Amino acid sequence: MLDSVWEWILLFIILLSVFSLIGCIYALNHAKKVIRKDIQFDLETVRRRSHFVFISDLHLNMKLVPWNNIFDIIVDADPEYVLVGGDLSSTLESVPLAHDFMAELAKRVNVPIYLVFGNHDHNLFDEKKVGASFITREGYAASIEKLSNNIRVLHNEIIDLGDVMLAALEDYRTCTVNISELSLKWAQEAEKKNKPLILLTHNPDSVRFMCENAQQMKHVAVISGHTHGGQIRTPFNIEYTLIRHDVLPKEGVAYGMHNYKGINLYISSGLGCSALPMRYKSTAEVVVIDVI
Ligand SMILES: [Fe+2]
Repeated sequence: MLDSVWEWILLFIILLSVFSLIGCIYALNHAKKVIRKDIQFDLETVRRRSHFVFISDLHLNMKLVPWNNIFDIIVDADPEYVLVGGDLSSTLESVPLAHDFMAELAKRVNVPIYLVFGNHDHNLFDEKKVGASFITREGYAASIEKLSNNIRVLHNEIIDLGDVMLAALEDYRTCTVNISELSLKWAQEAEKKNKPLILLTHNPDSVRFMCENAQQMKHVAVISGHTHGGQIRTPFNIEYTLIRHDVLPKEGVAYGMHNYKGINLYISSGLGCSALPMRYKSTAEVVVIDVI
């Protein structure tokens, strides 16, 4: 029997420590797990089913999910092409890892790979953030494209993939273009060709500037990452309300399939972690997408 208040406090601290330790071990292990997530976009103007894979937020400086597990899911999905949603690495030191991953991916899948940069990639282009050894966006893109003829880094551009159009919008936080105008222009270009448009962009907050044109964007699917699905989900969504500055998660739009004010949107939980190598109530995923 515990006799004093101090003994009760000591017991409470011991129990709290044990539960915290168990929680940390679980979260560390869970960050190493990856699942295949199958989704469909039912868009107008589809001529033929388009089947592709989307991965995002690799954060290779924290090597958690075994690469082979990622590649096995992608190869098994047998995609026509692979989209990469940015945040390859968060540090200059891990850029070689980003190169290794992209080179290995290109070797394994042997289909076109299209990549757009995220906010963590952009940090590497900023001397104020990473010092004098910063790299340029153009230089980094060229070094990745040099790894394989199948890799292309896209930046505020639209390309025709045959049955679908693919557009890539630069990261919201460093965006230098008018998102509303450019996304509408892309949507109109795809509509003229009677094709659906896949709009790849790292941060889903960009969608807020597309809503005003939602009526003209019914054939558009926006695909993004960035939120890590919360990564470590906390009571009252503290990760979104207090820590992150993003707008959509504060509105409850942080992961999965949404129709955000008329815009078709999928937000992936990504593959890697930032800040802490842990996940709780959020699992790393390879997204296999069919546009039907
Ligand atoms: Fe990220």
